[in-house]
Amino acid sequence: MKKQETQYDVIIIGAGAAGMMAALEAGKRGKRVWLVDHAKKIGEKIRISGGGRCNFTNLFCAPDRFLSENEHFCKSVLSQYTQHDFIAMVERHKIAYHEKKLGQLFCDVSAKDIIHMLLQECEQAGVHLSRETHITSITFAHNSYHIEDEDGHKRKAPKLVIATGGLSIPKIGASDFGYNIAKQFGHTIIPTRAALVPLTFSAALLEHCKNLSGLSVDAIVTCNGTQFREGLLFTHRGLSGPSILQISSYWRETMDIEVNLCPDQDCQALLTEKRNKEPKKEIHTVLSDVLPKRLAVSICEELNLQEHKIARLSNAEIKALNARIHHWRIRPSGTEGYRTAEVTLGGVNTDEISSKTLESKIQPGLYFIGEVIDVTGHLGGFNFQWAWSSGFVVGQNI
Ligand code: FDA
Repeated sequence: MKKQETQYDVIIIGAGAAGMMAALEAGKRGKRVWLVDHAKKIGEKIRISGGGRCNFTNLFCAPDRFLSENEHFCKSVLSQYTQHDFIAMVERHKIAYHEKKLGQLFCDVSAKDIIHMLLQECEQAGVHLSRETHITSITFAHNSYHIEDEDGHKRKAPKLVIATGGLSIPKIGASDFGYNIAKQFGHTIIPTRAALVPLTFSAALLEHCKNLSGLSVDAIVTCNGTQFREGLLFTHRGLSGPSILQISSYWRETMDIEVNLCPDQDCQALLTEKRNKEPKKEIHTVLSDVLPKRLAVSICEELNLQEHKIARLSNAEIKALNARIHHWRIRPSGTEGYRTAEVTLGGVNTDEISSKTLESKIQPGLYFIGEVIDVTGHLGGFNFQWAWSSGFVVGQNI
């Protein structure tokens, strides 16, 4: 017997941060909403975010904290629903939070509080939520989107929202579904790549750093005309830590990055002064005053200065040490990829989407929200804010 097609006002595919936000806003406006996800657990990325505490927004959220082929695209959406609007929602639900650093807001207790808040609002707004549902086809006919799942259930709606996120962390549900649907309806995709991701080293470079795994320093990292000052962590495969995750969004395979491992000191001046005043000291002992000892020893070994007293240092050697500490130029061999990346750069081309409503300019009634669009935030709560803002905007416009 032919199964009947259930009618909705809007179908939202992907019940992550952006999808839940869009669903609850549309539901509040009286729309009949079907929110569907293929995963068993809803909001998994929220749950694992921010070390389990979810860095849910940033006090200093602004368009210049986002990367996109069109840097202006995010402006309207971010202004229609700001960080302060989301903070107000969090406060309404009495979720305790704190600013960790640099405007980054985290839950005091658990990221699950944010998931509960969104699910509760969806429920109150009458959203129909289906988990573990696999969509097998989407077609457009007679001004409606017709969606079929693997059990043969059919649903239709005049509006379809793609909220399937990016490609990072496939094991918790990330898929290329959104990009494929975009292409099906004539959209182009800005090439995707893993971002906010640790960088890896070649074997030769790792040889220099093999004893440093686990060590972290405050550093300035520069690449491609952009720099970040935050923590840097040596790993057994290369570099990580916030400064590296940030710069990974700007780095490309043929580029060097430059690292200042000691931003608050002038090591050339320090070494020159100590050569005069304390000539019998070993070089790594002097450097250990301003760098972690393991790092100081490793740099001296790399430059064959490990046994030297500082008196023996030539001006050229001081310059070389200074360059190695303040202008360490390295060429990473790659990134850790989508397995560990926080986000995906690139995505649905913003030229083909209205920046005011997020409706496709190609296919009427089709909307894109969240990470699937070519808008990627810096580390620090900006990606969730993009998800909340874009979800809200679509919730108001469908
Ligand atoms: P999101 O990924 O949240 O949701 C997409 C949904 O679509 C998922 O539920 C998925 O199962 C579903 N889906 C995919 N394919 C489907 C299909 N074929 N059919 C049905 N459903 C499908 N950001 C931030 O601002 N602060 C932070 O602290 C962190 N921390 C963090 C840690 C880690 C480890 C990661 C991986 C990421 C972060 N992020 C972050 C980034 C943030 O999680 C991300 O940008 C948002 O979750 C994006 O929201 P979306 O709703 O677009 O996608």
